[in-house]
Amino acid sequence: MEKLLKDKVAIITGGGGGIGFATAKLFAEEGADIVIAELDMKKAENAKKEIENETGKRVLTLEVDVSKKKQVDDMVKRAVNEFGKIDILVNNVGIYLADSVLTLSEEVWDKVIDTDLKGTFLCSQAAAKEMVKGGYGKIINISSCCAIEPTPGQVAYGAAKAGVVSLTRDFAFELGEKGIYANAILPGMTVTDMTKDFLKTEKAREEWRNKNVLKRLGQPVDQAKVALFLASSLSDHVTGECIITSAGAVMGQ
Ligand SMILES: NC(=O)c1ccc[n+]([C@@H]2O[C@H](COP(=O)([O-])OP(=O)(O)OC[C@H]3O[C@@H](n4cnc5c(N)ncnc54)[C@H](O)[C@@H]3O)[C@@H](O)[C@H]2O)c1
Repeated sequence: MEKLLKDKVAIITGGGGGIGFATAKLFAEEGADIVIAELDMKKAENAKKEIENETGKRVLTLEVDVSKKKQVDDMVKRAVNEFGKIDILVNNVGIYLADSVLTLSEEVWDKVIDTDLKGTFLCSQAAAKEMVKGGYGKIINISSCCAIEPTPGQVAYGAAKAGVVSLTRDFAFELGEKGIYANAILPGMTVTDMTKDFLKTEKAREEWRNKNVLKRLGQPVDQAKVALFLASSLSDHVTGECIITSAGAVMGQ
């Protein structure tokens, strides 16, 4: 069978670690050239080395803060200069800074909203402007179950991730006729740097396993496989959708 992403070019934001890295690697294994847009260039360079060595595909690493429009616009320009086009954008960057509704500071609110929501908008807008030129593009936004389930301490994160769901539908709605798809993934607990404090002990890991019906902890590649479906022609009749990937911890919308 032909590789699912043969001759495609994919930008993965935050592709240096966790779900972003697993996605970048799986996409390269399936034939795509990759742009990793990262704040942490050490992680980005390690990711590039591993992906290029193991897949033979090209990886361009770019230092980008997704909440800064100029840096995002430059990211798209440099990706197009290098590879000639952008077929796929995975808006994977997300930060999580927890505090209660009574004490969360304005500074933390702004930081989370700027990174998780505004960053997703800026990258989607800049990439979509390129994608419409070729009449094709797939945008995949990594939201969270926190978009639809209240979780203690996650007021800014939940609001940002719910906003990501909303803007996914707006991009799908406005740009569908131009060949642009937009879908969101809503992961549940997944083992990455972001969640290491929750999963420190075997007891904690057991508790998290027991919160879902499959009794397993999500791994980054579990999320990457769903992103692959949404990035490939397997999902050519799917847009404006949210896929919850929580092993059944959260069901429905
Ligand atoms: N891990 C989970 O359980 C879980 C659950 C639901 C949703 N998510 C979402 O999945 C996505 C990936 O999460 P993860 O767990 O792999 O996180 P992670 O912290 O392991 O990786 C995030 C990456 O983004 C990069 N990054 C952070 N801010 C950036 C910025 N402003 N510009 C560019 N790069 C930046 C980091 O350097 C890091 O490499 C996030 O959007 C997160 O909210 C994760």
